[in-house]
Amino acid sequence: MIITSCGNSEKIAKRIASKLKVKYSPLTISSFPDGDIYLKFNTNLKGKKVVIVQSFQPHSDMALFDIVFAAETAKSLGAKKVILAAPYLAYMRQDKRFNAGECISSKVMAKLLNNSIDKIITIDPHIHRYKSLKDIFTIPAKRLTANFLIADYIQKNFKNDVIMGPDWESYQWAEAIAKHINIDATVLKKTRFSSRHVKVKMVTKVPIKGKNVIIVDDIISTGHTIAEAAKAARKMGAKTISTIGVHGLFVENGIDKLKKAGVTKIITTNCIEHKTNKIDITPLLVEELKKEKR
Ligand code: R5P
Repeated sequence: MIITSCGNSEKIAKRIASKLKVKYSPLTISSFPDGDIYLKFNTNLKGKKVVIVQSFQPHSDMALFDIVFAAETAKSLGAKKVILAAPYLAYMRQDKRFNAGECISSKVMAKLLNNSIDKIITIDPHIHRYKSLKDIFTIPAKRLTANFLIADYIQKNFKNDVIMGPDWESYQWAEAIAKHINIDATVLKKTRFSSRHVKVKMVTKVPIKGKNVIIVDDIISTGHTIAEAAKAARKMGAKTISTIGVHGLFVENGIDKLKKAGVTKIITTNCIEHKTNKIDITPLLVEELKKEKR
């Protein structure tokens, strides 16, 4: 087995290789003067299983393109199997045509990967209208969750806390984490007016006053969702407000937005490399990839 990365998840890729005691071989990726991709493997792949570790951030379009080019190249160089370990899988939120004429990006992304890789492993993909990854992937697709790692982190670092999901989509994470450590979880109802404008309101009756509120979501992108939830928590008398995101994208000054809304602790897993990373998801991928070593 050979572990490689197209650049977005190098640290995790190296850690996985070292835990599995297999070779890590970085790819050479650059651009020709006109912008065309240049990609080169630097080790012999013949008969090997190749694991590409690559999150779809930053630059989701480029990440997808790099994966497709790398996978096709690995196969043409004789790789036995190409596995994508994508801690963050992008495009999943566009899972229907919200407006006439729109691209259902998740299906297009999956189609490209179905054609070029043999298996995908990902962590907490944004599954909302789909029932499972099988709805879009024809290749084996494994969905892992960071829920227990997050629950563990909360148990070690918070007291007198309550978990808040900012919308129904996030409740699957909030509820599972809260159950695991036996604390309360509540959910807000979110109305999205645009990709940069949301409003939330409380719909369940869990006491917030005087509590340390932890807002949990799968994706923190622009930060609008968490910021609105934080404002609601503050109005309800929360003592402190923190947030934990599985995938911290923090586009368009997301961090500043959260701080302005009164969020004092911003914590993420390292599915996407960021200075807020506090929860290491490497063990999840290592355990799954061990099965491929047998
Ligand atoms: C969508 O439902 C997701 O679970 C997140 O709530 C959403 O992606 C967050 O986006 P933003 O940070 O831009 O509000």
